Amino acid sequence: MTSLVRYCLSLLYDFWERSRLEKAMSVILPALFQVVPPSYSRKRRRSRSDHVAEQRTVKSMEGLAAQVKALFEAPVQAKRLLEMSVRLQEEYREKLRASEISMLPSFQHTLPTGNERGDYLALDVGGSTFRAALIRLAGKDGAGDGLQVRRIRSFVIDEDIRRLQGRKFFDWMASKISEMLAEYNHINGTTDARLKMGMAWSFPVEQTSPSTGKLLRMGKGFAAGHGVEGEDLDDLVLEACRARGLNVELSAIVNDGAATLLSQAYRDPATRMSLILGTGMNAAVFLPVSALGKEKFGAREQGWFEAAERVVVNTEISMFGKNVLPTTKWDDLLNAHHRLPDYQPLEYLITGRYLGEIVRLIMLEAVSTAGLFDGSIPERLDEPYAFETRTLAHFEQDNSSDLATASAAFTSAHPMESTPKVRELEFIRSAARVASNRAAAYLATALHALWAVRTSAESLQPGEASHVTIACDGSMIEKYPDFRERTQRYLDELCILSGACKGAVTLDMTPESSLFGAAVAVSCMDHGDS
Ligand code: GLC
Repeated sequence: MTSLVRYCLSLLYDFWERSRLEKAMSVILPALFQVVPPSYSRKRRRSRSDHVAEQRTVKSMEGLAAQVKALFEAPVQAKRLLEMSVRLQEEYREKLRASEISMLPSFQHTLPTGNERGDYLALDVGGSTFRAALIRLAGKDGAGDGLQVRRIRSFVIDEDIRRLQGRKFFDWMASKISEMLAEYNHINGTTDARLKMGMAWSFPVEQTSPSTGKLLRMGKGFAAGHGVEGEDLDDLVLEACRARGLNVELSAIVNDGAATLLSQAYRDPATRMSLILGTGMNAAVFLPVSALGKEKFGAREQGWFEAAERVVVNTEISMFGKNVLPTTKWDDLLNAHHRLPDYQPLEYLITGRYLGEIVRLIMLEAVSTAGLFDGSIPERLDEPYAFETRTLAHFEQDNSSDLATASAAFTSAHPMESTPKVRELEFIRSAARVASNRAAAYLATALHALWAVRTSAESLQPGEASHVTIACDGSMIEKYPDFRERTQRYLDELCILSGACKGAVTLDMTPESSLFGAAVAVSCMDHGDS
């Protein structure tokens, strides 16, 4: 844009401000300005007072808020979502026929009965925590659902741990397993009894047997795959454990999405789908073996095929939607600067790791073009990923007129020289609401598409398919304000539009599903069910 055009536009803007036509023009005028996207990360660290906007303020905050709202809301009309679902179904079917990285079949061809029993060490390698727990499966016939956590330790995975490369990460894991076992004075490396472990792994894995698998590329900012991608995940874990003298045996490796399905199936044998939505996201589905291309199963004994009618599939659903789900310039900016651009398009639009980041990019634009925070960047707001989705949640939850709670949460994470004004806080809340609402809509669309693929793979019509429960776990689906409810509303709309009834598919929470699912997977081995 030439400076002359910019000058004319700014005159027009001044006139617009003075004539108080702001409301009516707020949607139209912003579109005339070609906004320069904020630089992703600043090279030079500057002091807080130094963070004065480099660009002249060219629009009102309310005008930008309206533009953001319009961009995020445009794609989330039910009919458009249904079209996207149809295109996603095509993508899913294609990858069910052939793909080495998504729609990965496990070895699990039956679901638990709920009568499996035993004590197991369950590991849950998540995006932001590593947990080790002693789990007892007591059988459903007793009190409760038969799933008990007897001991548990939780370890934060911070950026330093995320950056550990290759064997160093597995050594860290082994040190924590050892700590857990030592602390509770339970079974350790000196006993003769080998403790059976099941591991829920919240990254893609190509299963080569129920207890072995090849490490595939890891997202979520993890460097653990460096130099060891394609190696046996079980060897990496066991070598690290043995080096520390731990007498353990890895009896099952299961993706956390599949673990969620298994743990809920232990409680309710009608479970057919699962969803994880936290730092990352995934879904698993129990599908007829015939829905997958033969080569997807790799080398398996003929006996497996003879016994298997259906199989638990780790969809890696986060990897879908690249050319289907509309994005904004802020999403595109995030993707372009990601360590793995385009690797998990759906994840980059909806999960806990990215939602805050999308809004941070919008805020940076507002600082430089719409006078947010008087053009000064609050502390750490210029750091990629520093604005956390949990802070965003405070904004969504705060319906007060002064947004005091949201303001406190924001300024404690991002101190600034003056207290944020209410209209600034409202700007952030509005961006949070439209971004999370789009996330709920896209998630519902991706799940609807998976449900539709399963329905037709089972040769059912949407109207006659029986009710499907999607077992859900993960901090975002559990805790983000109104998120599950919004997703459910979109799912209902999509189901109705495609001929099923409202409530044909429901999202039900499944607490502690990764840990329980890892233990259930081991018990299924013990009971010879797979
Ligand atoms: C990521 C991983 C996937 C995992 C999911 C949920 O998308 O690729 O394997 O299941 O996050 O943790």
